[in-house]
Amino acid sequence: MNLLSVSNLNVNFHLKGQDLAALIDVSFTLNRGERVAIVGESGAGKSVLGFSIVNLIDKPGYIKSGSIKLDNKEITKMTRPQLQEVRGKRIAMIFQDPMMTLNPVLTIGAQLVEAIRSHTRISFKDAKNIAIEKLHSVQIASPEKRFHQYPHELSGGMRQRVIIATVLLLNPDIIIADEPTTALDVTIQAEIIQLLLDICRNNSMALLLISHDLGVVSRIAERTIVMYAGRVVEEGPTLEIINDPQHPYTQGLLNALPQMALPGQRLNQIVGSMPPLNERPTGCAFHPRCPYATDQCRQQQPGFINSGVSTVACFMVEDMLTDTNSDYDEEID
Ligand SMILES: Nc1ncnc2c1ncn2[C@@H]1O[C@H](COP(=O)(O)OP(=O)(O)OP(=O)(O)O)[C@@H](O)[C@H]1O
Ligand SMILES: [Mg+2]
Repeated sequence: MNLLSVSNLNVNFHLKGQDLAALIDVSFTLNRGERVAIVGESGAGKSVLGFSIVNLIDKPGYIKSGSIKLDNKEITKMTRPQLQEVRGKRIAMIFQDPMMTLNPVLTIGAQLVEAIRSHTRISFKDAKNIAIEKLHSVQIASPEKRFHQYPHELSGGMRQRVIIATVLLLNPDIIIADEPTTALDVTIQAEIIQLLLDICRNNSMALLLISHDLGVVSRIAERTIVMYAGRVVEEGPTLEIINDPQHPYTQGLLNALPQMALPGQRLNQIVGSMPPLNERPTGCAFHPRCPYATDQCRQQQPGFINSGVSTVACFMVEDMLTDTNSDYDEEID
């Protein structure tokens, strides 16, 4: 049984009298201890997906249809106390801005101790010891000193470490990390990513890493899901996605990575931009930006096909596979 399974999830936003789709038929699974990345440009629907999983989509958004199951229990039908239990103990979220989670008027120590004592009846002294140990385990130097400091006295990277320490206290089965390193320096980014990786491995936690950067996810996720305009367009083992991307959008994302350009060369950005919800093109939403688009792409939504170990929604890939298979059949005849 999958730890988490999302099936045909549709999330809409009511905006200016219109009911607009932000997620369309999104399906994927996450197994215990597995690390999966969700990638795509700004506006792809990555955060909406992350929030939907913990049922945190608020008006004007709503889950229109589909299913989100945690250990086979339907999250979309849970009561408020059941949801709080899930968010507190089973699934933890880490955001780009640690200040979304940290309270600016409480010391780091007070917040950690509160988190511990909210679900365990122990003395302040014992809770303090656990808190310091957790700060230590996320490689915060001088944890005894940091314990008494306020969030604003810490750097961005250190605040993110405090958040990870809080997550460790909860010992969840799943961490959803939404662009956890985007606001940080490149060197600090690498450290935090490594820390997340170590923590998930050592504690058998599953990780859903949301990122617009395929370079970052390649180091951490075993599987990658590529999203465009609210849909999944490609999914597969990360190595496969990086080394042999099938969908023209995934190819575009990879070509746009800084490490793909030669020194002095301009980055190969994908021409055009992600459409807003009320301007989603007909057919394959990527067609206006796709160098291979045909009339079929402009009119019809491609279904998913298996290409090797990846799954991809693209007519061009489908046609290529059909051609290859018929060549093979002819050889056999
Ligand atoms: N509260 C909201 N009200 C209206 N529209 C929203 C809301 N939240 C998200 N959207 C729209 O849903 C779409 C997906 O947004 P989402 O925040 O999931 O993108 P994202 O992939 O996380 O992008 P980014 O990389 O910039 O974080 C966008 O078109 C966005 O404008
Ligand atoms: Mg986002």
